[in-house]
Amino acid sequence: MKQFDKKKNRKNSNSKKWDRYKSKDILPMWVADMDFESPACIKSALRKYVDNGIFGYHSEPKELRDILKKYLKNKGWNIKKEWIVLTPSVGAPIYSIYNLIPKNTQVIIPTPIYLNFLKAPKHLGRRVQKLPMVNDRERLAIDFDKLSSIAKKNSWLMFVNPQNPGGTVYSKKELKELSKIVKEKNITVFSDELHCDLILQRNLEHIPLGSFKTIEKNVLAFYSASKTFNVPGLNCAFAVIPCDNLRKAFKKNAEGITDDANITGLIALSAAFKQGWTWRDELIKYLNKNLETLLNAIKNHKNASPVVPEATYLLWVSLKNPKRKDLQSHFEKYGVGINDGIEFGKKNNIRINFATNHQNIKKASKRIEEALINL
Ligand SMILES: Cc1ncc(COP(=O)(O)O)c(C=O)c1O
Repeated sequence: MKQFDKKKNRKNSNSKKWDRYKSKDILPMWVADMDFESPACIKSALRKYVDNGIFGYHSEPKELRDILKKYLKNKGWNIKKEWIVLTPSVGAPIYSIYNLIPKNTQVIIPTPIYLNFLKAPKHLGRRVQKLPMVNDRERLAIDFDKLSSIAKKNSWLMFVNPQNPGGTVYSKKELKELSKIVKEKNITVFSDELHCDLILQRNLEHIPLGSFKTIEKNVLAFYSASKTFNVPGLNCAFAVIPCDNLRKAFKKNAEGITDDANITGLIALSAAFKQGWTWRDELIKYLNKNLETLLNAIKNHKNASPVVPEATYLLWVSLKNPKRKDLQSHFEKYGVGINDGIEFGKKNNIRINFATNHQNIKKASKRIEEALINL
């Protein structure tokens, strides 16, 4: 675990997360990247690429599709290699997908949700139907009865599993329930499964929505090594789209507009999915230690109730009637840079990124306590 204890100075390293507070004594705990070095297998694969010294237009690594097929097979989804579409990120399709959704089609977005799902329709002038999630015993969940009652025939659903910001890992029972609704209403699901390898609790598992055979053709699923192995700056993700027509339309829509996945990202993805899993297991232990420290600090405060994440390195905390309305500024005043929940569609909440070294977490916990006392 020593590797995660390493104090990395990310100031002046072109880090979006750290540059926000440059010369200020504010610990950045906002945007979702980690203050940890990626595993050695990624660094050595990239070193080999750099040492070759030629950075021309690239093709796809030969073994990549086999690696990705195996990756999903291990999760119970037997895909065909041609269903895979490489993308530069998951973020870009969150916007570009609207070109495939007819203007009058209902788009359902459970909230709170990763902020770009809310920004995209706003930016594109599209109306969406929000579906507030329920907080059931410190766990955020979709109200499937409600979903069933509001969903129209042929609508679209933006689904995030594991969920961000709440960290919910949907169970087999929940996914079965969802798949029934999807089938009945012929819903097309944008299934963002980006955080699926960051499950914090041993008794839980990630089940790809596409592995439910009856709705396989309704699903566009998105994956990446970017969150788990901390390579979001390398611009690489992949979609799995079993429906031929949807896949063709998705590819055509990207042509000439969205860039290819970056070669450095493809190299990192191959290396990580082949050799990175032991490192990932260590990471999970470390994240759990960080989470425990943070939860211990927060739980004594009556005005704060955390949603205990089942996955991700993000902690979602509900605040009871805060007097301060600008939560980001308030927490910054006490030396922590969090995300205001309003960005994810829910006010009076904050999201805390706890993927940093434990020293920082201890320091941040004290600061967060101070901020909560004075909320
Ligand atoms: C659920 C979710 N989807 C998509 C993204 C964006 O991913 P990318 O960096 O691949 O655009 C994020 C980033 O935090 C995320 O949490």
